[in-house]
Amino acid sequence: MDAGPSCDRAARAPPLFFRLLTSLPFVYLGSDMATPPETSPAPVTIAQVKDEAELMQALAIREVVFIEEQHVPEGIERDAEDANAFHVLAYQGGHAIGTGRLVMMSEPPPGQQGKWGQIGRMAVLQSHRKARVGSKLLIMLENEARNRGVGGVMLHAQLYALEFYKRHGYEALGPVFQEGGIDHLEMHKRL
Ligand SMILES: CC(C)(COP(=O)(O)OP(=O)(O)OC[C@H]1O[C@@H](n2cnc3c(N)ncnc32)[C@H](O)[C@@H]1OP(=O)(O)O)[C@@H](O)C(=O)NCCC(=O)NCCS
Repeated sequence: MDAGPSCDRAARAPPLFFRLLTSLPFVYLGSDMATPPETSPAPVTIAQVKDEAELMQALAIREVVFIEEQHVPEGIERDAEDANAFHVLAYQGGHAIGTGRLVMMSEPPPGQQGKWGQIGRMAVLQSHRKARVGSKLLIMLENEARNRGVGGVMLHAQLYALEFYKRHGYEALGPVFQEGGIDHLEMHKRL
C-alpha cells in the first residue's frame, strides 16, 4: 500500500478518474460468503485486467480487503497509479477472487540501478486465502516485470505477510514504517 494524504470527501469533489469509476454499473464479485475453496474444485486462473469493467472488479476486491477488512482509509486506497498500472485478476468458477498490480517506478529504489517495478495492492478474498491464489498473482506480476526488462521489483509488505514474500525470494530492508495505519517493511527481489 502506498501512503497518501487522507482526503475530506465532503469538502472536495473527487478527481475525474474516480468519478468515472464510481459512475460505472455494479459488478458481481465472488463474495467471502462463497463456497469455500475445499468444496470448490474449479481451477484458479490469472488474467490481465483489459478494460474498465475488469478494473472495477479489481477495485471492488481491494475495497473489501483493504477498506472493509483492514480499515485502510478510503482516501488512500485508490491512487493515480491505478490509471496506468498493470492490474491482474484471479478468477475461480467465473468469479473474481483476487487482484494485484505492477507499477513501473520512475527511478530505482535507493541503492539499486536500472528499471524497477513496484508490486502492490495484493488482495485475495478472505475465504480463498492459503490456496496459492496470492502466489499465482505474484508470479504473474513478476513475469510481466521481467517482460518489461526490469532489474528488480520492490514492495511494501505488511509484517504478517513477510514469510509469504520471503518464500517468493524477497528480502526485507530498512525500518518498519506505517502506511494506512498498518506496519510495513520494504522488500526487494532482483529478477
Ligand atoms: C497476502 C495475500 C495476498 C496472500 O494470498 P494467499 O492467496 O493467501 O497466498 P498463498 O496461498 O499463495 O500463500 C499464503 C500462505 O498460505 C500457504 N499455503 C498455500 N497453500 C496452502 C495449503 N493448501 N494449505 C495450507 N497452507 C497453504 C503458503 O505456504 C503461504 O504461507 P506463508 O504465508 O507462510 O508463506 C493474502 O493473505 C491477502 O490478501 N491478505 C490481505 C491483503 C493484504 O494484506 N495484502 C498485502 C500484503 S503486503
